[in-house]
Amino acid sequence: MTAPLTIAIDGPAASGKGTIARRVAEKYALRHLDTGLLYRAVAVLCAAEGIPLADAAATGARANRLDPGDLERPGLRSAAAGRGASVVAAHPPVRAALLDWQRDFAMLAPGAVLDGRDIGTVVLPEARAKLFVTAEPDVRAARRWRELSKDRDIAYRTVLQDIEDRDARDAARSDAPMRQAGDAALLDTTQMSIEAAVTEAIRLIEGQLAA
Ligand code: DC
Repeated sequence: MTAPLTIAIDGPAASGKGTIARRVAEKYALRHLDTGLLYRAVAVLCAAEGIPLADAAATGARANRLDPGDLERPGLRSAAAGRGASVVAAHPPVRAALLDWQRDFAMLAPGAVLDGRDIGTVVLPEARAKLFVTAEPDVRAARRWRELSKDRDIAYRTVLQDIEDRDARDAARSDAPMRQAGDAALLDTTQMSIEAAVTEAIRLIEGQLAA
């Protein structure tokens, strides 16, 4: 039996990692998991059920009872869900509860592309290929602002502040902070269109798979 092909794609919000991960999964005919959705679902469920997001034990217990259907809940992509996700993601019991879920998903044949913050460092340290996708904060904020302002009136400054706060929280937490794995290739998409970023991502992954 051949081992599952696992690919880890990490990076901060609006770096392009989600689109890249989807396209890489299509190219290699792998399944794709946006792991941010797990943390978003925990935050949204806790908020709906009156569980304080600052309560590590209670949010961790809720994360243990997460159901695949919870990832289909409406509202998971909102800015508020992203902020809440970043708060619950700092709690070790929440991260522990979601670890096996992510690994089980990745290890099912034929393998998977996972995108997140700690895939290459913690979830899949043995992934066959690893990318860390990033871009300057103002460019990421402008991308996110263009998306969000289609549906509602929102100031660019608010989006930039949100991105900076989230970057700081995700990188500063002590459990599985966002960082580039030592063996991950860095892909800076600041000056790239999404098409150029996908092409470059596949070139880097091909190099790692051939090594
Ligand atoms: O990628 P995203 O914006 O959907 O992620 C939402 C939050 O979830 C992010 O701010 C931090 C957290 N997260 C994490 O800690 N680890 C992951 N593997 C994925 C997301």
